[in-house]
Formats: sequence, C-alpha cells, structure tokens
Amino acid sequence: MRERAAEALRANWTGTSTVPSRQLYPHQWSWDSAFIAIGLRHLSPLRAQLELETLFRAQWGDGRVPHIVFNPAVPLDAYFPSPDFWRSTTAGRAAGAPGAVQTSGIVQPPVHALAVWLVHRADPGLSRARSFLARAHPRLAAWHRYLLDRRDAGGAGLASVVHPWEQGMDNSPCWDAPLSRVTPTDPAAYRRADLDHGAPEDRPTDLDYGRYVRLAAAYRDRRYADGAGEFAVEDPSFNALLISSEYALARIEAELGLHEASSAREARAQALTWTLVERLWDPAEGLFFSRDLRSGHGDGELVPERGVGGLVPLILPALPHRVATALVRTACGPHFGLGGPARLVPSYDLTGSAFDPRRYWRGPAWFNTNWLLERGLRLHGERARADGLRRALLDVAGESGFAEYVDPYTGRGCGARGFGWSAALALDLLLDDPAGRDEEPHGRSADVASVAVKREGFRDV
Ligand code: SER
Repeated sequence: MRERAAEALRANWTGTSTVPSRQLYPHQWSWDSAFIAIGLRHLSPLRAQLELETLFRAQWGDGRVPHIVFNPAVPLDAYFPSPDFWRSTTAGRAAGAPGAVQTSGIVQPPVHALAVWLVHRADPGLSRARSFLARAHPRLAAWHRYLLDRRDAGGAGLASVVHPWEQGMDNSPCWDAPLSRVTPTDPAAYRRADLDHGAPEDRPTDLDYGRYVRLAAAYRDRRYADGAGEFAVEDPSFNALLISSEYALARIEAELGLHEASSAREARAQALTWTLVERLWDPAEGLFFSRDLRSGHGDGELVPERGVGGLVPLILPALPHRVATALVRTACGPHFGLGGPARLVPSYDLTGSAFDPRRYWRGPAWFNTNWLLERGLRLHGERARADGLRRALLDVAGESGFAEYVDPYTGRGCGARGFGWSAALALDLLLDDPAGRDEEPHGRSADVASVAVKREGFRDV
C-alpha cells in the first residue's frame, strides 16, 4: 500500500508541485496541494515544502490564494475553465494577481496553515535550515486576513464563499437552492473538458456547469472585487478548516517566537468556534448547515440539506462537548451511516432525495473528508470509531486504486484513479502516529516515520 501510494504521488509530481490527476486536473489545485503535502511529507519533506511554496508564489496581493495555478506547458483545451477564461493577469490586476503566472480568481478551503505546520513537523531541521515557517508565515497571515476581512459578507466574523468550487464540494445538493437563482450560461458558449476523461454520470450536470460558468464570469467581470455576487454562503466545513488553520498558524507563530500574536490568534480561533456554533449549528438536527446569505431577509437562511461539510467542525478542539457528542451521533445515524451500512462517510445524506452514490459530491465518499473525520473522532475521544474509519479508509483506498471518490456503500471507485489526495491521505494514515499529532506540539512520530520510509525516487533534491 505504501509503495503504491508513493508511486501515485511520484507519477503526479511535475517537478515543483503535484497534479491531482494527470488527465482530469492537469494543473495545481489549492486544497489538493495542501492535502497532498500532508502525505508527501512522509516521503520527502522537501517536496512537501516545495509543493506549498509553489502554490504561495501565486498568491494575490490582496491575500487570496487562487484555487488553480496553471501550468503553462499544458494545452489550453486540456482543462476548462482555462487561463484565457479567468484572465488573472488583466482582470485580476486590481486585486494584485501576480504577473508571472496565470491563475484562477476564486479560492478553495484554507487547509494550508495546517499543512505547513504538519510539513514542518515532519522534518523540523530541514524546515529551520530553509526558513520554511518564517517565509510561509506572512503569506498565511495575509491569506487568513483576506478571508476574515474581505469575505465576511455576513458581518458576523465567518468567511463566505462566492462560488461552489470555493467550498470544494462543487455539486453538493447544499448548493441546489442558492444556485437555482443563477441563470446558466448557454452551453454553446464553452466546452467542458472534464467529460473527455470522466464518465458523465460521475460528473456534475451541464445545468450545474452553466451556473458555475455564469458565477465565475460575473466575478471576473467585476475584476474579482468582493461583496456583490449572486452567490454568498457561510459554510461550516470551509470555516472549520479556516479555524483549524488558525490554530496551526498560532503554533507556527509560537515556534517563530511570536508569542503575543500566537496567543491572540488562538483566542480568536476559540471565539470563531463559538461564532460557528451560533450561526450554523442546528441542535435539533445535530448537524451544522450552510447559511445562504442571499436568501430570506438580512442574515439569510440555513440550507436544509445534510452535507458532510456539516460534520467537519468535529475537527475543532473548542467545540462544546454537547455539540461534539451530537455530531458523532449524527455521523453514526441513518444519514451518514458511519460504522453501519456505509463503508466510508458519504458526501451527502444517504436518505436525502438528491442522494446519488456516484455523482461527484452528491453522495460518494471522499478521502479528504473521511481523513478529517478520523482526526475529529480521535480528537474528541472516539478512539474505537476513529480506528474503524482509519481501517476502512485504508482498505477502500487500496481496493479502488486511490480513486478520486467511491460509492459509500460498496467502495467502488468513481472519477479519476491514482488521485493525489487519496494516495497522500492514505499514506498519512498509514504512517502518522495519532499519539504525536499536532494537538501534541512536541510529538515526534512524523519525524521518525518520514525517515523510515524515504524511498528511491523520493531522494530530496
Ligand atoms: N473541482 C472543479 C472541477 O471539477 C473545479 O475546482 O474542475
């Protein structure tokens, strides 16, 4: 398993970063790179550092980290929307898009500070020698500042997303209602490249694509200025990952001797956890829901669809005990089937009317969300359940050839194979000793593991 996962990562490495999949996603994706670095650190801490550094070189002046960094060597028609759609170097100039590299103009979930911290921990000596944390810190701080200031469309302190691709779970039924107000772009105006490589029944529909294109083009035509878009959602998973990364950034600051900044950031992460509960928690359902800021009046309304994003806040250490307990109950109940009928936790409610076991984020299980839930379960003392989920994740990852996503009941693979984060996160679960996780800042297990598995082909360059 370890060798097969390493081989998948090696095959997707471009020399400066890792593609999620050579065919379907032939560029660098933001949250993919963060998850990939978390696995890669066990094989080559240097490559894991480079992965994140390459991404951050494409950061915009306003602090945003673009969701795609385009590889100029890849033909324009290999992926849509291509650089000539986003036009970052012209339309993004006012927002500070870099001139030397082409990127998209939207963002993805901020898992990066967590990744930077875990990568540092894999080889602190190398990290110090390369000033990895000192160079990453101002970029991470600007990234979080952008999200917490410019994206606080609801005014309560949480970040909002302006496109379903930003939240990362593109065609989740959670977006059906907010997207229904968006007039789709005429399909004749563009060509989907994803269907050249993915089965249509595994991918989002043409109607969804028409709406994605409309929203992205409107944002571009506003020169990527924040505040006025048709789609604005406060999402529990996006914000939980931001808060988790705030904790990681606080650890990075402590490591750099910035103790006051570190304490202030940690206090803010706790306060944000409570804001998340106030804004998005539904005690009757035992689940977090997304808030559609463009529906209803004033504060918007919670979207009544059960997505796996509603379970992701389990990764937060300051979650009130009653909330954590209720989340575990919901994860194990009929909607998500953990430890019961589902082999892995699905992306969407097993009993929901829109459930589809194959179609992208409308039901299939994904490895990144299951990896996050494994951490959350362990963090909140659910060791047996975490062990069970870890075993299931490793079994399904291996059986499916590191599929992009799988049928949650059978584990049958869908989408791409040899998918970057599926291989990386399986590797991380194989090699990371939970006793040494980042909740224990002085743990050394990752260092030991990375030394033990350094392999031919992953010699640090
Ligand atoms: N996940 C999207 C895609 O399918 C965009 O990030 O291309």
